[in-house]
This record gives sequence, C-alpha cells and structure tokens, in this order.
Amino acid sequence: MDPFLLLLRVVHVAGGVFWAGAILFVVHFLEPAVRDAGPDGAKVMQALRKHHYLEVVPMVATLTLLSGFGLYWRDFGRAHPGPGASVAELTYALGGITALVAFFVGVSLLRPSALRIGALGAELAQAPAEKQATLQEEISRLRVRMRKSGRWVVRLLGITIITMAVGRYL
Ligand code: HEM
Repeated sequence: MDPFLLLLRVVHVAGGVFWAGAILFVVHFLEPAVRDAGPDGAKVMQALRKHHYLEVVPMVATLTLLSGFGLYWRDFGRAHPGPGASVAELTYALGGITALVAFFVGVSLLRPSALRIGALGAELAQAPAEKQATLQEEISRLRVRMRKSGRWVVRLLGITIITMAVGRYL
C-alpha cells in the first residue's frame, strides 16, 4: 500500500465529485431558480459570491486536475498517450482533456461573466433611471453567456465522468 497514491486518489475523487457536483447544481438548478425568482434572485447570487463559490470551485478544480495528471503519470509513466497506448490510457486521456477544456471554459467565460453580473447588479441598485435599461441589457447578455458556457462545462465534465467511471475496465 502506497500512502501517497491513496492520498492522491482521495484528493482526486473527492475533488472531482465536488467540482462536477457544484457546477451541475448551479447550472441546472440554482441559476434557473434564481431567474424564475426575478429581482430577488440576484440576492441569492450575491450571497453565493459572499460564500466564495467563485473562488472555491476553481481551487478544487485545480487540485482535481493536478491529482488526475499525477495519477495518469503514475499509471502510464508519461504525460500523454503515445505509441502502444492501451484503451484505458486513451480513455483517461480523453477524460483529462475534456476536464482541462471545462476548466478553461469555466475560468475564462463562466467565472468572469458571473463576477461582472454581480458588479453590474450592485451598480444597478444605485443607478439613475436613465442608466438602468442599459445595465439590464448588459446583465441579460452576460446571463446568456454564463448559461451557455455553464452548459458546455457540464457537457465536458459529463464526458470526463463517464471516462473515469469506465477507464479501468477497458
Ligand atoms: C471532474 C473531473 C474528474 C473527475 C470527476 C474524476 C473522477 C475520477 C474517479 C471517480 C476516479 C476513480 C475511478 C476508479 O477507481 O475506477 C478517477 C480515476 C482516475 N482519474 Fe479522474 N477525474 C477527473 C479528472 C481527471 C483528470 C483531469 C485526469 C487527468 C488525466 C484524470 C485521471 C485519472 C486517472 C489516471 C485515474 C485512475 C487512477 C488510478 O489508477 O488509481 N482524472 N477519476
């Protein structure tokens, strides 16, 4: 029994469950519920920010990625598939790539949109009437971007989850 390997697996599996679960819940349940709630919904999103959702998720995702690539290195002795790669190796590599792309979509589109919506929401509360329509328009545009990028992150992580679930049996 190798304690480091066990630690790596615990960090990886716990991190993966947290990352995928947190994204899935927000994209498929919380965001639509907040939208249905109208102006009051914005307060829930602000509270989510206050509880550091937008910092904790990328941090845990980073740990999942690092431990995943560490496990891949230990299992296959290289950083990416090469000559003679087994089906299992190719499957884990596919899951690794989709998780990496999901991470970049998350930090480059989803997270900045959510941050900007929060900032504009706060501005809207103080804004004069003539500026409110422009701010609302910008918020709606960002919401669409957030929803679309969120759905992509869910799809990509869905592929990762399937590959991780079946990898060792292939
Ligand atoms: C959301 C992202 C991820 C989730 C939810 C996840 C989940 C899991 C789970 C549950 C296992 C255990 C499977 C088993 O014991 O049969 C696993 C194993 C593994 N994962 Fe991931 N993973 C993720 C990202 C990654 C990434 C980015 C890589 C990088 C290539 C990776 C590489 C591996 C490898 C190589 C194993 C096998 C470990 C071993 O042999 O003990 N994973 N993953």
